[in-house]
Parts: sequence; C-alpha cells; structure tokens
Amino acid sequence: MTMTAQILDGKTLAQTLRAGFRKRVDALAAQGHRPGLAVILVGEDPASKVYVNNKVKACEDAGLYSEKLVYPVNVAPAVVLDKIAELNADPKVHGILVQLPLPAHFAEAAVLEAITPKKDVDGFHAENVGALAQGNPCFIPCTPYGVMKMFEQGGIDLSGKEAVVIGRSNIVGKPMALLFINAGATVTVCNSRTEDLKAHTRRADILVAAVGKPRFVTADMLKPGAVVIDVGINRLPDGKLCGDVDFDAAKEVASQITPVPGGVGPMTITMLLANTIEAAEREAG
Ligand code: GUN
Repeated sequence: MTMTAQILDGKTLAQTLRAGFRKRVDALAAQGHRPGLAVILVGEDPASKVYVNNKVKACEDAGLYSEKLVYPVNVAPAVVLDKIAELNADPKVHGILVQLPLPAHFAEAAVLEAITPKKDVDGFHAENVGALAQGNPCFIPCTPYGVMKMFEQGGIDLSGKEAVVIGRSNIVGKPMALLFINAGATVTVCNSRTEDLKAHTRRADILVAAVGKPRFVTADMLKPGAVVIDVGINRLPDGKLCGDVDFDAAKEVASQITPVPGGVGPMTITMLLANTIEAAEREAG
C-alpha cells in the first residue's frame, strides 16, 4: 500500500504568521517605532528585481516602512558602502538587506560586513553567522528560518534524526545545517561533487534540497517516509515554476513534502518581516 505525502503548506503558514505581525507592527508604530527595511539592489538581474520588489511589497502590505535603493551594475562599491553607513545610522531603518548575488567587481563579504549586525536581518554578517554557529542566534537567515517554522508547524521533531542538506551555500545550505545541528539532528551536507549522493539522501529522515536544478531529486533517492523540503525555485522553458524535487513521484514516497510554488518560497519573505519587526522591537527596548 502506498500513501501520498502530507503537503507542508507554506502559503497558509505565511499568511497566519503575517496576520500575527499586525499587532506587533501597530504597537511599535504607536510608540513612534514603525519597523523599517532598506533593500539594496545592484544591477539588472531579472530574478533579483522580482525578489526585491516582492520584499518591498510585503513590507507595504504588513505596515512596515521600506526603502528600495537601486544602483547600476557598474556602480563603484564605495557608493554602496557609503549608503550602508548612512542606513546604519538612520533611525527609520531597522533592517538592511543587500540582494545577492552582487556583480563580480564587488567584494561580497566586505559589503555584508559593512552592515551593522543589529540591522543585519538576512543574518549574513560574520558576527551573526558566528552567533548561529555557537547556538546563540541573533538573526537567522530567512529561508532556513522559514523551514524551521514549517517543522514547528508540522510537529516535526528533529532531535536524533538524520538530516541531509543538498547544497552548501551561505544563504541556505550552511545556515540550514547549523540549525539542524543546534536542534540535535545528525547532519550531512552534500554538494555537487558528492560521491554517491543517493547513498546519503536514502538515509535522510529529513531531506532539504537547495540545488537550483529542476527535479534533481528523484523518488529513488528518498527513504520511504522521509520529510522532503524543496528550496528550489526554477523556471522551466514553458515559463512554469518547478522545484529541485520531482514532486509528483516524490510525494508517493515521502511522508511530508513542500510544494513549489506554495512551500518554502512564501516563508522566506515572511521571516524577513519577522526579523525586521524583531530588530525594531529590540531597538524600541
Ligand atoms: N539571494 C537569494 N536569496 C537571498 C536572500 O535570502 N537574501 C539576499 N539578500 N539575497 C538573496
């Protein structure tokens, strides 16, 4: 007998969480501390433009103040660094986000380190990465934070479980692995060079795919009953979105699975709002 997996519905959870933000934003605004987010975009990458516009729109819908700062692809890094210094000192701004990737002539780490850690709502500053690694997080990167909220919502216990992450990026894979470690899971981080990937993924009670290749994870790579988290957002030639997991086949093997769209995606911006509101609450005292 086969059972179809339960769907982990990020869209509904995101709506529920955002409804709960309303009171916190109103309370802050009443004290003169409306939460504010500044989003910096360098260049014309079409996907980055969409993400940045979605972030600004989400702020507006949630009652946050927001600023969008757009620079041409050939801008001098000093111009962006000067703007970050100004935003660090701006009391209207509680969160500063630099959309990645930056153009090649930027030293990405130097830009991320220029953001004051108190306003680093992406959690990419070395100080915040270090705090997370030590199990004492200050800001958790938005996508892995959203995945943790989905585990919480689904009553999925991580302690003692085999967690496998495919992808080792600073944005998803690495912080996801740190969160699993902190939760008491046994953690494997795979990458594009991993030998016998399937041998690793078949052992996963929890599998996170952050690969960037459409339908890369196939049903034969899953342990029956696994929880499957698909972080991929890939655009197919026909314009449709698809994840890193072959959803239709995987849902017949997994016990719980995130769809694309409507899974992890809506949670990422939700947790960006959560981090920005949290930053404002800390500032307000
Ligand atoms: N590029 C892809 N994902 C992200 C993210 O979560 N934050 C930023 N700043 N850039 C990204």
